[in-house]
Amino acid sequence: METDPQRSALIGRGEAPIHEPGLDPLLRQGIDAGTLKVTTQLESVLTDHKVLVLAVGTPSLPDGRTDLRALDAVAAGLAEHAEAGTVVVIKSTVPPGTGRRMERQLGGDARNLRVVSCPEFLREGSAIADIAHSDRFVVGGSDEAAVSRVVRLLNPFNVPVVRSGNTEAELIKYGANAFLAMKISFINEIANLCDHVDANIDDVAAGMGMDARIGAASLRAGLGFGGSCFPKDVVALEHAARSEGFTFWMLRAAMEVNEQQRIRFVQKIRVALGSSLEGRRIAMLGLAFKPGTDDMRQAPSLVIAERLVELGATVVAHDPAAMSAAKLLLPQVTFAADPYSAMEGADLVALVTEWPEYLDIDWQRAASMVRRRVVVDGRNCLNQANLAAQGFNYHGIGRPPETEQWDRRETAQLAGSAADPT
Ligand code: UDX
Repeated sequence: METDPQRSALIGRGEAPIHEPGLDPLLRQGIDAGTLKVTTQLESVLTDHKVLVLAVGTPSLPDGRTDLRALDAVAAGLAEHAEAGTVVVIKSTVPPGTGRRMERQLGGDARNLRVVSCPEFLREGSAIADIAHSDRFVVGGSDEAAVSRVVRLLNPFNVPVVRSGNTEAELIKYGANAFLAMKISFINEIANLCDHVDANIDDVAAGMGMDARIGAASLRAGLGFGGSCFPKDVVALEHAARSEGFTFWMLRAAMEVNEQQRIRFVQKIRVALGSSLEGRRIAMLGLAFKPGTDDMRQAPSLVIAERLVELGATVVAHDPAAMSAAKLLLPQVTFAADPYSAMEGADLVALVTEWPEYLDIDWQRAASMVRRRVVVDGRNCLNQANLAAQGFNYHGIGRPPETEQWDRRETAQLAGSAADPT
């Protein structure tokens, strides 16, 4: 059930309303086989179905609370229409206590309506591949039969199952996302320190990540976390703690560092230009909050582009997938059809999203197009030596000018993707 008629029509034709690699063919497959049907009518899905999966949006309200209106609307429909024995699965990320409360509201034992909390951990841009390779399948609820049914139905790849109560399942999701967000803020702070002491974050992160207790994942320093999950979930968990009467200091710090990371980047651009931004032309490569998606929610590009324009610069941006979405949010930015057109006449190239196509840029060609050869790499994804060979002045996040000559690929291979310097 999709409330928006336009999105519903798209899905009905087997077209995903979002950019997610591999999703369109899967939708088409389901529609052709008759296993996937789409409707805009809530009532029609509430009756007639034994398992209902709730995947509605749960955005943050301005005060940090989670907006549960979409979930409450479904709960109201369920209270009225759902048949005895129905299992309600909450996939949406919801504050601790929501699942239990919903089961009580729906009548629980008396009506034999069960709520099973089953958070998802898929990443945008690699969601399809993640399904089969998830680290775990978390499922929380008080009724054994309902929980087993959900495992049978929604864990077809038999990834390891973590069984808990509803509230524990909800907290596993928040805890995991908040921890990863803290990890990213932590490595960003180490990178900021690297900038001050002329150390290279690639080496530091690789060495830290090889400690199995730390792990190499989510140790890439850059512009901080964005997207629909980390920022919202950190805020929501901090709010949940506050409403229980205590301050979750580490989450506050993670959020603060994340905001500062965008500001620092603008500062880096100012320093790299060595002058005011007034009248400067800046090529911005990447707009989406991460590669592989057109999602602009909490994308660092939004704050960065706005600030650069405020400071008098002209921003010419490119993104392989997010330009339609970005045009609505950044009216003051000019958009280019490809990265080279964006770089034409630029005083500085700012890399904001590490799309694979940007890793293949022909910097020799770019060198002949820009006005000044300056690159500020917000994702530490470009090859510093290649750029220097084309006369570019390179600035990363915690990457001092290259002086040491060893081959970093070797450590990167040992450490996994976190330290990949290419
Ligand atoms: C995240 C969680 O990973 C996933 O489990 C949950 O279901 C939804 O939220 P997603 O938002 O798609 O997934 O992206 P993820 O790849 O985790 O990255 C989140 C943000 O952190 C992005 O802005 C990314 O650029 C940033 N990030 C990630 C870093 O800055 N450094 C890293 O090392 C990893």
